[in-house]
Amino acid sequence: MPILDTIKEQWAESLARITASASTVDLEQVRIDILGKKGSLTALLRSIGQIPAEERGPMGKAINELRDKVEAALAERKEALAASELEARLSAEVLDITLPGRSRPIGTQHLISRVTEEVVEIFRGLGYQVIDGREVETAYINFTALNAPADHPSRSPKDTFYVVDRSGDTQSIRGESEVLLRPQTSTAQVHAMQDRELPLYILSPGRVFRRDTADPTHLPQFSQIEGIVVDKGITFGDLKGTLEYFCKQMFGEDRATRFRPHFFPFTEPSAEIDVACGFCGGAGCRSCGGTGWLEILGCGMVDPNVYGHVGIDPEEYSGFAFGMGVERIACLKYNIPDLRMLLEGDMRFLRQF
Ligand code: DAH
Repeated sequence: MPILDTIKEQWAESLARITASASTVDLEQVRIDILGKKGSLTALLRSIGQIPAEERGPMGKAINELRDKVEAALAERKEALAASELEARLSAEVLDITLPGRSRPIGTQHLISRVTEEVVEIFRGLGYQVIDGREVETAYINFTALNAPADHPSRSPKDTFYVVDRSGDTQSIRGESEVLLRPQTSTAQVHAMQDRELPLYILSPGRVFRRDTADPTHLPQFSQIEGIVVDKGITFGDLKGTLEYFCKQMFGEDRATRFRPHFFPFTEPSAEIDVACGFCGGAGCRSCGGTGWLEILGCGMVDPNVYGHVGIDPEEYSGFAFGMGVERIACLKYNIPDLRMLLEGDMRFLRQF
């Protein structure tokens, strides 16, 4: 067969195979069959040697042209196949972005922390400094330095948790160095007056512990916030103005409050502040024991006997102190009927705040 016919035939055949190949893998095989070491076109190129010398030029040129055309056809087909293969893969491996993801729930601040912060912010605005207290104290700091008489009932292990448990031993007067879990944040008053420069405008939030069984109005562990002011010329008027301002900030201008005389060993005179019951609006209901009022804090002018324990001259300085229960305030502000709800960890309850 004349060589030109062979070239034509090879071109037709190669093009047909290239066009018919269905994948890049198939196409590679076609390429090897044509251009590989034993490929048909390679054989043709080699046959040039047998051609008479005078015909070699044009024949060689024709074969080289054929090779160029085959290579171009292969490249073009390869590109088309690769594109459609990629397309197919992309649609097969597509991610279903409509599947719900794994959510990471973000917690919220606990109501006790939030109310503590609200109180702290109000007093910060008045220039108070916030200090930490100690949860473990001595009987001296918690009772004696706070002017509690030796036979005060709260010294009893029936009321206070002692670190060395002597439950049952209710008669003995406890030694000054006896270690206990503080039942009140008032201990912070003693540390503040002992350790700090006067004047003092201090707030100290923290946990306290009492030997109570949990019920709607009692918890064996709860939170208090203590306040203490010592400066020159502080009067009961300062106490009243400060705490009335606090109540209005905390409960709103419209909520009624009242001062009621009371007794605390470490203040004289002492008072309690009541806030109008949020359940009945002051008419009297079960939550407020029919009185229309709920007690929120104790307060008073620092007793001169306390100054004696901390080395402050009561002729020169005077001051007032106050202490409030955080859970109590949270319940009053948000009308929560049972203190225990704050500690149960029920998310349906906690998420509401
Ligand atoms: N420590 C008292 C209590 O736990 C509350 C209290 C009353 C604190 C009067 C005070 C205060 O600072 O002056 O019931």
